[in-house]
Amino acid sequence: MNLNEYTTLGRTGLRVSPLCLGTMTFGTEWGFGAEENVSRQQFDRFLDAGGNFIDTADGYTSGHAEEMVGKFVTEGKLRDRLVIATKYTFGVQPGNPNAGGNGRKNLYRALEGSLRRLKTDYVDLYYLHAWDTFTPIEEVLSTMDDLVSEGKIRYYGMSDTPAWYFARMQTIAEKEGKERIATLQLEYSLAERNIEREHIPAAQELGIGLCPWSPLAGGLLTGKYKREGISGKGEGRLTGPRSIFNKFTEHNWRVLEVLQDVSKKLGKTPAQVALNWLVTQPGVTSVILGARTAAQLEDNLGSLAFTIPPDLRQRLDTGSALEDVHPYNFYVPWMQARVSGNVTVKPWRPANIYVGATAPPAVPETKAAGEP
Ligand SMILES: NC(=O)c1ccc[n+]([C@@H]2O[C@H](COP(=O)([O-])OP(=O)(O)OC[C@H]3O[C@@H](n4cnc5c(N)ncnc54)[C@H](OP(=O)(O)O)[C@@H]3O)[C@@H](O)[C@H]2O)c1
Repeated sequence: MNLNEYTTLGRTGLRVSPLCLGTMTFGTEWGFGAEENVSRQQFDRFLDAGGNFIDTADGYTSGHAEEMVGKFVTEGKLRDRLVIATKYTFGVQPGNPNAGGNGRKNLYRALEGSLRRLKTDYVDLYYLHAWDTFTPIEEVLSTMDDLVSEGKIRYYGMSDTPAWYFARMQTIAEKEGKERIATLQLEYSLAERNIEREHIPAAQELGIGLCPWSPLAGGLLTGKYKREGISGKGEGRLTGPRSIFNKFTEHNWRVLEVLQDVSKKLGKTPAQVALNWLVTQPGVTSVILGARTAAQLEDNLGSLAFTIPPDLRQRLDTGSALEDVHPYNFYVPWMQARVSGNVTVKPWRPANIYVGATAPPAVPETKAAGEP
């Protein structure tokens, strides 16, 4: 696969590269990013390699990331060529609850600010950044629909929401003939596969694309941290003062061990293998890269040009599998065989369900105690 093998963003006519350039690391305001000259190098290199998809947010590095993107795009006269995604939600004025959240007032305020910083009159893809837990679905939907009509955004997406929330919104949009959700943005990597249970099957069923964030678990999957007890030691964002998500867990260390072993066998870096696995996972549209240096970006761009053979992929899959939990244990083949009277049924297309991690046991002859 190459960076210029474009794919459509969910069920839309928008073409995007299989990797997207994340800009949370554009600017040093958050304590772990890159200066402007390095951000520019990354931006230019990504475009040279064929990338056309840029991800930012109004709050990244206090607006600096959007400003840089606006500057690079304007100076390079690149607006038509690029798909620019940005987001709204997080509060920007202490003491003013309406300068944050998912409501209509904040949505318009935030978008106007993003358009100014990005030096453009439209955003290609506008995300609700994270669910605020109470704004009604209908309010977000009708505002996004209006913004498409007004020409201020071309498409919209949802980030960091429960699956029921976006599924209900998409269903209402379809029923009411309103603009549909184009894509989701959620954390997804070998170390974080929870969205396989609900979000990915729902997205596939509803024609929504998926752009995973933190594909390297904030850097853990590069192998640059050494285990110390349960914690980690090493230079990088995860041991810095601004690290918010703890990635040093027993599960993640085990995943890393398998990843490092598979990477050695493939002669690739762990980052390249982790990204390749993710880009080729069902439902994934474009993986959002994060890099602090030009060398890191170069390493990550090398993730497309090889194929993980099935036996090694299987090792990655099982080594990073989620725990088997209810109700998904009802959808494994042997349980479904009991549903259909032990007759094998071939549906018109593979079902959009999560069936758990472990190999299915043989169909039990008799009902065991406690089984339904
Ligand atoms: N929607 C959301 O809620 C949300 C949340 C987070 C991110 N995002 C988006 O997703 C993008 C990517 O997220 P992320 O930055 O968390 O991705 P990530 O790939 O998981 O982590 C990136 C970090 O890992 C390290 N790294 C990356 N490549 C490396 C390599 N080849 N070798 C060694 N270290 C490497 C760097 O950190 P060091 O400083 O340690 O070197 C880099 O900043 C963001 O830019 C943003 O656009 C969205």
